[in-house]
Amino acid sequence: MDLRRDVALGARLAVVRAGGFALALSGDPVLRLLYRPWIDDPAPLQRQLREAAQPYASRSGVLVVATAALCRELVRDRRFLVRTRSGGSLGGSVEGGRDPLLEPVELSFLGMDPPDHTRLRRLVGGFFTPARVDAYEPLVVRLAERLTDDAARRGRFDLLADVATPLPVAVIAEILGVPDADAGAFARWGQAVGAGLGGVRSLRALHRLDAAVAELRGLLGDLLERRRHDPADDLISHLAAEDADAQEAISLAALLLLAGFETTSSLLANAVAAMTDAREPWAQLAADPARAGDAVEETLRFEPPIQFTARTPHETVRLGERDVAPDTVVMAMLGPAGRDPEVHADPDVFDLDRPTKGEHLAFSGGIHYCLGAALARLEGRVALGALAERMPTLHRVPGAVRRRSLLLRSYLRLPVAM
Ligand code: HEM
Repeated sequence: MDLRRDVALGARLAVVRAGGFALALSGDPVLRLLYRPWIDDPAPLQRQLREAAQPYASRSGVLVVATAALCRELVRDRRFLVRTRSGGSLGGSVEGGRDPLLEPVELSFLGMDPPDHTRLRRLVGGFFTPARVDAYEPLVVRLAERLTDDAARRGRFDLLADVATPLPVAVIAEILGVPDADAGAFARWGQAVGAGLGGVRSLRALHRLDAAVAELRGLLGDLLERRRHDPADDLISHLAAEDADAQEAISLAALLLLAGFETTSSLLANAVAAMTDAREPWAQLAADPARAGDAVEETLRFEPPIQFTARTPHETVRLGERDVAPDTVVMAMLGPAGRDPEVHADPDVFDLDRPTKGEHLAFSGGIHYCLGAALARLEGRVALGALAERMPTLHRVPGAVRRRSLLLRSYLRLPVAM
């Protein structure tokens, strides 16, 4: 362990944490979203952000856009990129490299600009086309039925631990080709690494994260090596057959686990929480489980799992009412964008019949548009349908714990009963 690195990181962490809390108390709406009571009811702050002149200059030093129109413009305009001119992390002070506090895990092409982004996205794109995703449906149905049958037998369960987390992990393990024997470790490390994605809060957390990343990379590296000699019909064998660079291939496989795992489990948790809290939508879904696709879209609009993404220009670019200087970080707030009254009437109401529900930015847009969108929709539709069919009177019971993350809006625990 590098002590000097730790001391420097520790000092910066203390500043970031103290600064964040102080800014939240002094009224910065972006950071306030992290703290109670705002984290439980973000709608007023989201409205405040949307109604401010755009882009809004947060006291944390970044610009923020929160209307649907400007969020869409930001993610689609190809002059806005995901690395600074020196190749650094967005908002990071590390020149020309990844900042371990802001970007604790290397995220393959999600964190790359063209041409590397284009090359790596193409390498795996074929596994996520609509036709390919249709072929995963029997697997998703089998898994969702098994998990919801088990949960229904118990009657009272944790939606996340018992249904929403194991489903996407098993699906992505199958697509990648992780053997059953390794699936438990794969899920544990994925969870440990996923927990650190929004940034770490302590040096201990950073060390735990480093260790989990190393183990996950080890498992994927062994598998890649094995598949070079003994190929199967899975994504890792494809990377081996294409003779992909080992480090690049490992990062890519890790990205697929991380991007597809807690996002999807958060979608399921947010859907169940929002629909059972409002009651009427859950009753509607239970009466007609075929409406699970509507439930998925309305949840993505109402409570998108990924609440923001960020970009920076390499030249001065006009956005809304400001000229954005090179290397300035601009955050697109996807949560507030989904509640924009310019697009959605009565935006703070969860409404399965809403005609505009599909017009959300939960999967972002432009060249980084979520590669797994069709798969996430399939998993969401199948799992919510299976739950509603078996548990028409599903409701929350005390003990829910919200995840305290600005990036991922979700729960750590969501106890429910039938
Ligand atoms: C409800 C579930 C999901 C949500 C809300 C979601 C959301 C997102 C968002 C917002 C981005 C773009 C970030 C940006 O513009 O900077 C993204 C990118 C990505 N997602 Fe998803 N995602 C979900 C599920 C999945 C699944 C199931 C997979 C695959 C197994 C996946 C794989 C990816 C990948 C590989 C990227 C990077 C795309 C690129 O940079 O070109 N996602 N996702």
